[in-house]
Amino acid sequence: MKMGVDYYPEHWERSMWEQDARLMQETGVSLIRVAEFAWSRLEPEEGRYEFGWLDDAIHIFYKYGIQIVIGTPSCTPPNWLVERCPDVLPRDAMRNPRYPGIRGHRCYNSPSMRLYAARIVEKLAAHYASHPAVIGWQIDNEFSLNECHCENCNNRFREWLSKKYVTLEALNQDWGTVVWSGEYSAWEQITTPLGGTTFRNPSFLLDWKRFETDSVVEFQQLQLRILRSYCPDHFVTHNIWSYPMSLDYYKLCEELDFASLDYYPGTSPEKSVSGGYNGALTLDLTRGIKRQNFWIMETISGPPGCWFPMWRTPQPGFIRAFAWQCIARGADTLVHFRWRSAPFGAEQFWHGLIDHSNVPGRRFEEYRRLCDEVNRLSLVLAGSEVIGEAAVLHSHDIYNAFEIQPQAEGMNYFDNLKLYHRALTKSGLLTDVVNTTDDLDKYRLIVAPSLYLLDEQLAEKLKNCVKNGATLIVTNRTGVKNRSNVCWIHPLPAHLAEAAGATVAEYDPVGYDVHTIRMLDGKTYSCSQWCDILEPAGAETVAWYADDFYAGTPAVTVHSYGKGKVYYLGIVAEENFYLDLFDKAAEEAGLTRVTGLPEGVQISIRRKGNSNYLFLLNLTPKQQTVQLNDTYRSLLHERSVGPDVILGPYAVEIVEFVEALGGIPLVATV
Ligand code: GAL
Ligand code: ZN
Repeated sequence: MKMGVDYYPEHWERSMWEQDARLMQETGVSLIRVAEFAWSRLEPEEGRYEFGWLDDAIHIFYKYGIQIVIGTPSCTPPNWLVERCPDVLPRDAMRNPRYPGIRGHRCYNSPSMRLYAARIVEKLAAHYASHPAVIGWQIDNEFSLNECHCENCNNRFREWLSKKYVTLEALNQDWGTVVWSGEYSAWEQITTPLGGTTFRNPSFLLDWKRFETDSVVEFQQLQLRILRSYCPDHFVTHNIWSYPMSLDYYKLCEELDFASLDYYPGTSPEKSVSGGYNGALTLDLTRGIKRQNFWIMETISGPPGCWFPMWRTPQPGFIRAFAWQCIARGADTLVHFRWRSAPFGAEQFWHGLIDHSNVPGRRFEEYRRLCDEVNRLSLVLAGSEVIGEAAVLHSHDIYNAFEIQPQAEGMNYFDNLKLYHRALTKSGLLTDVVNTTDDLDKYRLIVAPSLYLLDEQLAEKLKNCVKNGATLIVTNRTGVKNRSNVCWIHPLPAHLAEAAGATVAEYDPVGYDVHTIRMLDGKTYSCSQWCDILEPAGAETVAWYADDFYAGTPAVTVHSYGKGKVYYLGIVAEENFYLDLFDKAAEEAGLTRVTGLPEGVQISIRRKGNSNYLFLLNLTPKQQTVQLNDTYRSLLHERSVGPDVILGPYAVEIVEFVEALGGIPLVATV
């Protein structure tokens, strides 16, 4: 476990490098990431590679015991390259080039881009393979889909399709091109989604997204192969740019050693509660990418801003608390963005740890404390893993399918994922967020938001989990389509109908209209977005609609299936509904749970052998109290804490306990 910073030697006078290295060493920084945008300095003109300045910088940091991660610079092709090979630039849907000016101005399928990127990566890899300070690589920077419509992308897209479908008949059949005379009679007729019209074939659009992901993966693969061959002892990672995301991060990270995340929680004190929950989801998603611990390659150091008005400065304790949140949810190394604010360029006011004044201030002192703590606990926490007992399923494919065809006003796949995950987090459950294609055997509670694209294979896997005793919660818009984005001709939720013991007789995309459901005991909850009118076939009704023409019909059902049960939620309800539901489901499933958490206080557990480390994080600006069921040793403060733990604004506590887990609430209701 290490503390690092993002450092840009090319932004500073050489005389500052040594001062910076010295201060880093004193502060407890033992790693820097460099060079991910420095192409114009590393290769100032075609074929003239100038690594001397980077060698000098690295040498200085090495002297101060600081290790180096090198970013490959393919996110910023220099102007000479753009001038020489205009095919490097991506083209929009009207086929106009997107000019440089910022970054990310590169087409992943451009042969020139691939050639020149491979060349510089090879030079860098050969040069730094055996440098004692260099430990690993970050490929490019924050990949995303760039919607390029250039000739190369068009050709590659056709190739990709012909590989997937083999014959045009198969493609026409799968996409249902018969609608509106869209049938193709020659491969050349197929283009990327040019022109920008909104009426499109959804099967075509989903394949386009998949093709785009594969283009990025291939572009990365090219660099990865080079790095692996020259630097077999180095790790290779990529810094992902948050969620929701069209690019399939699971595919992107498949062959990397670990995933890294750039994490910028909102700094506004009013929003820190909701921001903390969104952050928890992002971190859980990142851990779920490879189902292992990860790195934070960038995180907040000061008020962000530049192309938008600056955000509030992080309040005292904020930087430290959100850094610990990353570790609590599986980060093994934290790299803060950035050491010092840039005096020039597009991000002058995206503040670093040190301001333009070059005088380390309040935020720096907080960072120094964080470094002390992390370095002190690093051996204890190294090798520990985050425990997840409940799972939320996530899929980029499903996200894309919903983006292609919004289902109802205000209904958003990812926002609903946030809602369910937030309720699980508030309920004090230990939650993983994993890909729908992952193995789910270990989970006793599986929350599967809108499995809109549902094939038999996924349905079978889920049914087996339930047969073996899991509780599965499925929601509206499940089983709507196959993987080609074509509707199943079957009552919803299609392949899960038997397991749910209910089908959807009719639905109402109510959008922002607010409806009410009533439970057996008379308790009511509001709901919106969508109302499935359910027809139980073996399932028991848990909630009924209280209004509209379907008043009195079932809205939520539960069905015993094998040794487990399936809840079907035909609605999207207010948060309280989920808090109550998860509470009940967790109790029935015997999950470890920390009850009575105050708003904005989050828990998680990292485990190593018999030792468990319970993290208690107050991600709010006000004091909160958590009641433990006993007294525990605090790792951070080297004293006993509990049963009452008073957490000041943005306070963090980590306690160690050795009891076996399994259904014991660790914290009593306050
Ligand atoms: C990230 C990016 C960094 C920097 C930072 C602050 O998205 O990777 O290079 O731009 O945001 O805006
Ligand atoms: Zn292109």
